[in-house]
Parts: sequence; C-alpha cells; structure tokens
Amino acid sequence: MCGIVGFTGRREAAPVLLQGLARLEYRGYDSSGLITGTGDSLHLRKKAGRLAELAKEVAARPAPGCYGISHTRWATHGGATDRNAHPHTDTAGDIALVHNGVIENYSTLKHQLQEDGVEFRSDTDTEVLAHLIAHYYDGDLLEAVKNALALVKGTYGIAVVSRKEPGVLVGARLGSPLVLGIGPDGNYLASDASALAGYATQVVYLNDRQICQLDPEAWVIRNQDLDTVDAPVQDIEHFLGDGDADRGDFPHYMLKEIYEQPETLANAMRGRLDEPDATAHFGGLNLTSHELRQIDRIILTACGTSYHAGIVGEYLFEELARIPAEVEYASEFRYRNPPIDRHTLVFAITQSGETADTLAALRESKRMGHTTLAICNVVGSSIAREACGGVYLHAGPEVGVASTKAFTSQVAVLAMLALYFGRTRHLSATQGARIIEELRALPEIVRKTLGCHPRVKEVARKYYTARNFLYLGRQYLYPAALEGALKLKEISYIHAEGYPAAEMKHGPIALVDENTPSVFLCPKGSVFDKVMSNMQEIKARRGPVIAVCSEGDREVAAVADDVIPVPDVPEYLQPIVTAIPLQLLAYEIALLCGCDVDKPRNLAKSVTVE
Ligand code: M6R
Repeated sequence: MCGIVGFTGRREAAPVLLQGLARLEYRGYDSSGLITGTGDSLHLRKKAGRLAELAKEVAARPAPGCYGISHTRWATHGGATDRNAHPHTDTAGDIALVHNGVIENYSTLKHQLQEDGVEFRSDTDTEVLAHLIAHYYDGDLLEAVKNALALVKGTYGIAVVSRKEPGVLVGARLGSPLVLGIGPDGNYLASDASALAGYATQVVYLNDRQICQLDPEAWVIRNQDLDTVDAPVQDIEHFLGDGDADRGDFPHYMLKEIYEQPETLANAMRGRLDEPDATAHFGGLNLTSHELRQIDRIILTACGTSYHAGIVGEYLFEELARIPAEVEYASEFRYRNPPIDRHTLVFAITQSGETADTLAALRESKRMGHTTLAICNVVGSSIAREACGGVYLHAGPEVGVASTKAFTSQVAVLAMLALYFGRTRHLSATQGARIIEELRALPEIVRKTLGCHPRVKEVARKYYTARNFLYLGRQYLYPAALEGALKLKEISYIHAEGYPAAEMKHGPIALVDENTPSVFLCPKGSVFDKVMSNMQEIKARRGPVIAVCSEGDREVAAVADDVIPVPDVPEYLQPIVTAIPLQLLAYEIALLCGCDVDKPRNLAKSVTVE
C-alpha cells in the first residue's frame, strides 16, 4: 500500500525513480510524485491518477538532479488529488518527504503547528511530518527527523530530503517496510526490494524504529537514539522472488497468474513431499519434534484471501491432524485478547508478508510467548522475518491486486502442514502415502481444469449484467465460496456474497430472485446430496444457478441453468480446483464490465495500514 523509491548517486535520479515506481504501482495507484535536487534547489512534480500522468508531467517539465525521492499513493487521508499526492514539503520548500503508513495523532500535531502559524496545503496526515521536521531542522536532517518522529503516533516508512543537504536521503520505519539498496551507481531507499531490481545489487532491511542516512558514497543505519547499528547486508537476488514479474503475452497479470497455477503448485510442493516416510518436510519451521507433539491448538490468522485459505487450513488441521484449530481475522485477533493456552501454535498467513493487521497479530502472539509461524510468499518481508519460523509459497511475484496463485499455494502448503502434523500423531503411513499421491497429481489436474476457460467465458457473457451474485458451498467449499465472491466483487464491483449453502434458508434466501445468480460449488463429495437440496431451494424461487460440478454429472446438469465441469479430486483439494473457474469467472465478468482488472478501484496490493 503506497510505494517509496529514493536514489542518491552518480546518474540522473528521475528515470530511476520512475522505473522503481512502475514496479510498485500495483501497491497504490491513485496519484504519484517525485522530487529531485540540484545544488540547493528542489524540483517537485506530482499528479493525481496513474503513474503515466506523472511520467507525462516529468517529460514535459524535466526534474533534473542526481538525488530524489518518490511515491505512488493509496489515499488514506484526503482524496486522490495533485495537492494530496506525495512528496509533501514544509512552507519554505526546504524539506520534502514521502510517507507510507498513518500518522494517527496528526490532528493534534496539525492544530499545534497551525497555532504556530503554519499553513497547510493538503488534507493529508503526512504534511504534518514535513512541517515538524522543518521545525526541528538546524542543519542536520537526521537529527531533525529523529526529533519529529519522537512526537508521532502511528506507522511510517518515510524518505526525506533537504534542499540544504544536497545528495542526502534520510529514511525511517515503524510498521511500514523500508529497505536500503546499495548499487554501483549509488544508494537507494525503497518500500520493497523489487523496486530496486536492476539497480541495487545488495539490500539492507530496516527494522522498526531504525533510521538511516545515505549519500552517493556511504550509508549508515542507526537506532532511535542515533547510535549506529549493525545490519546484515544481503544479496538482492535472494529477495526478488522465484518468478518473473513480466506479463509476457498475457493481457493482464491476473490472467497470467491464474495460468501459472500448475507451476506455482508444483513449486510449493517441490522437495517437501517425502514418500518413504509418507509425510512432508519443511526447512524453516524451527520446531523440535518434542515441541511439535506438544501443540494442542492451532490459530490461523490472516486477512482477505489469505483468511479464506486459513479456513481451509482450520478444516485440514482438524481432519488430518486432529488438532483443534480456528481461524481469526487478524484485524480482530490483534485487539481481542482471547485466552490462549501455552501449547497453542499461531500461523500468520499472508501473500505479501506486509499486511499491517496480520503483522500486528503476529507480534501480539509473539509478545504473549506463542510460537508463531508464517505462511508467506514474499521472501524477506516483515512477517517472514519476524515469525519464529515458516514456510514460503515460492509462487513468484503476485502483481494482480486480486490474489489468485497465492491462494491455491497457501491451501497446498496448509495441506502439507496438516499431513506433517498428522503423521506425528494418528495419521497412518497408508493415509499419508495416499495424500502424497493426491498432492503430486494436483498440478496436472489444475492444468486440465484451466481448460474450462472457454466455458467460463460463455457463462460470464450470460450473467455479467447481474448486480448481485451468491456463492454457495459446504464444508471445504464454504471458504471456496467466500473466495469466489471476494474475487468477483473486488475486480468487477458487482455485489457478491459467499455463504455456507445450508445457511441460505436462515435469511439470505430472501435475496433470491430471477436476477440473482447463485454459483453453487458442488463437485461430488460427502455432502453432495445436501447441496443438491439447497440448489433445489434456490431453483424453487426462480434463482438462476451456475454449478461448478464434477465432469459428467447429469444430476447437477438437470437442475442447474449452467454448469462448469471440473475434474474430481479429494474433498480437501476441491478449494484449489474450484478456485480456477471462480477466478476466471471474476476475470471475464470484470472485462465485460470494462473494469481495470489488475488495478481495481479503491484497492492496493498490500494493505500496510490498519
Ligand atoms: O498479502 P496478504 O495475503 O496478507 O493480503 C491479505 C489481503 O489484503 C488480500 O488477500 C486481499 O484480500 C486481496 N486483494 C484479495 O484478492
């Protein structure tokens, strides 16, 4: 959510900044801006709208200089306008700042500054910080930033420059990621290492409450008292993901990422399935077998799509490992203070590893002394670094705002974890071997499932004008229904609700009419007959039914208006296989509605504010 790129070195800064912002644009895209410096002058350019608007502005009015900072914004305080875009400056234009996060006490600070005569030019919380830094500035930017941050409540990842200290960048973080880059042409700051690909060769991740200073030749990281701290310098390659962030021949990242799933599932399982012992192995759990056997409860915490994967995880741990499990929205869990026993294991599930609520939930669990494990895609992200251990998805960069391949990889990883935990308990070698065989077959089955795309297109054309959709499933397909509904609403802006199919008669069935399609997830399984009864209840009320069902299922075909057949898999893998048509359905409907699939309105890829 919001992206920061800064550079100081021996080449023009603006192209570096624009290129870095292009890599981060999926994190926030309602406005963007940059500021560069020459001598004692700063050159500010900022524009509402997509990054292309800023690029046009810079082409028309070049921003010269070999140092600068830049930002792509997802608005929190103040609309998406030129004047609310970052960087923000103090009144004299001496200090400029870009900021990710939220200054929670900005209103108090703003009143104090206004009483001192400061006039504000934006509606943002960030501008407060620019004025505060200017207030403390006495020839030492680092010191001024430190003093200003001491007054701030909230979260920040910032990059700051001063007209009076050409070539110097100061950065700081608290709750919002910031990474320092080192390259042959100079030094960099960014909210994500991916922005520095092709420029920096090494990176240093800042921890919370650290502050850094860089110029073209040198860099230093300090704590909040400004003592120098040692920080590991690591090769950037390690953090650039296993995959390729280009769209290739696909029209959208989302479609590319949907089609990558046979490979991403294979990558999630590579080297982790152990036939001889009929179990799974993970390099980074950091749990002894004694600790593992002592676990008597599991909490899975996450947001959005990762939360839906968490529900599948809850069912998996209970079924395969017989360990009581529950899933909690991270945003609730972090403040709920539930009683948790000593032998509870907490999983934080996250694609980005930067989701603010999930990070806070993880920290709260750690503070209470629980072992926390991350299931995460982005290597080196805050959650990956702060958890006691974890499992990477190895799904490669997920750029489309709608999460697709991360979801199926999360479910696959959770299935392997449940297998592993189960094999330390009651799960027999025969059962373990069967699960391994089923998992091994999965990438090929998903490849085959992608063959449903032409059929999904037909269905999309028939229903895309509907204003409400219901997604219904039971057992493992209940979270799959939630995920299908989330996909549709976030990229097509059509209202959609996911429900356990049997819950309909307790209220939501009142919504059903001839204009409200219900997407039933009903491949063959233990509750198939029950779901068929639920489908009849919808049909009896003239509701159109789209059924994602087993290939060749005549019973479903006789009742549903439209069917999308998928291959049969064991029930615990059905959320993965049914995700394919649901992702494609959302994609095709969004295209027909003329929506920007990869950058849907109001959203950003990783939600680093509360
Ligand atoms: O990076 P995370 O998995 O922690 O992100 C959690 C949610 O913000 C994310 O899944 C969001 O719901 C997606 N836009 C869903 O497609």
